[in-house]
Amino acid sequence: MTSTPIPAPGAPAPVPQAEGSLEDAGLQKGRLVEPSDGKAGEPMIAIDAVSKWYGSFQVLTDCTTRVSKGEVVVVCGPSGSGKSTLIKCVNALEPFQKGQISVDGTKVKDRATNLPKLRSRVGMVFQHFELFPHLSISDNLTLAQRKVLGRAPEDARKRGLDLLARVGLSAHAEKYPGQLSGGQQQRVAIARALAMNPIVMLFDEPTSALDPEMVGEVLDVMVELARDGMTMMVVSHEMGFARKVADRVIFMDRGEIVEDATKDDFFGQPRSPRAQQFLSKILSH
Ligand SMILES: Nc1ncnc2c1ncn2[C@@H]1O[C@H](COP(=O)(O)OP(=O)(O)O)[C@@H](O)[C@H]1O
Ligand SMILES: [Mg+2]
Repeated sequence: MTSTPIPAPGAPAPVPQAEGSLEDAGLQKGRLVEPSDGKAGEPMIAIDAVSKWYGSFQVLTDCTTRVSKGEVVVVCGPSGSGKSTLIKCVNALEPFQKGQISVDGTKVKDRATNLPKLRSRVGMVFQHFELFPHLSISDNLTLAQRKVLGRAPEDARKRGLDLLARVGLSAHAEKYPGQLSGGQQQRVAIARALAMNPIVMLFDEPTSALDPEMVGEVLDVMVELARDGMTMMVVSHEMGFARKVADRVIFMDRGEIVEDATKDDFFGQPRSPRAQQFLSKILSH
């Protein structure tokens, strides 16, 4: 057999699975997430006064927010406002020069932090699904489980197929990504992220590359995930999704968090002119 690629550069050697084998993972029938044993209300993501520059261009300015366990936060704002950059800082895909970010109490910018391990617990779903085109769906679902978490192939396969069933795609396990629609590929990408037992899920415009008729099937999976109690930070302009499941909405403009409000306040009460203008534009279509 030829060697298979690993999902992230610098992925660590397989580590023994510290937190629970598949047997005790507690995956319940019909649920996408294991019940959290953490206390509700604890910050799962803490972003404190984060600033970032690309050369002399300041892309993030003094961003501060908290995401509690089980909370769903939707991040919106104009193109170029720093949304992708901010969420990439959360799992250290982007470095930042000032401030601090912690995930479940682990500081992202700390020399002692094992970044590959941290990233393995922070699921990330991008606009473009980024499945491996030359691997079957089942291999896409199991690769990182085996290479990064060191799971036995049969355990990884069981978990992968279980999650594939949860996103309604059991029939497609042996197909290749190119044989699936964009909406189906994105559901596989979500299942792949969930297979790693993430404690947090980050989404960066997961439906914006999809044909309109496929948006709903992906949002349905995300709604279910939210209702199952996953902590989620979702960059999206799907305001219907935000109204349905968001606890809070963050509005960014020019690298700043301009609004950080409960969903009801964001959609209902007077807010900054910039957010108002933005909302009236996207809601008028
Ligand atoms: N690697 C990079 N180098 C320089 N500038 C960048 C880089 N990535 C993003 N930017 C700039 O940073 C700003 C914020 O980008 P981004 O976080 O992608 O915004 P958003 O996701 O809100 O559209 C934009 O002005 C973008 O052009
Ligand atoms: Mg973006």
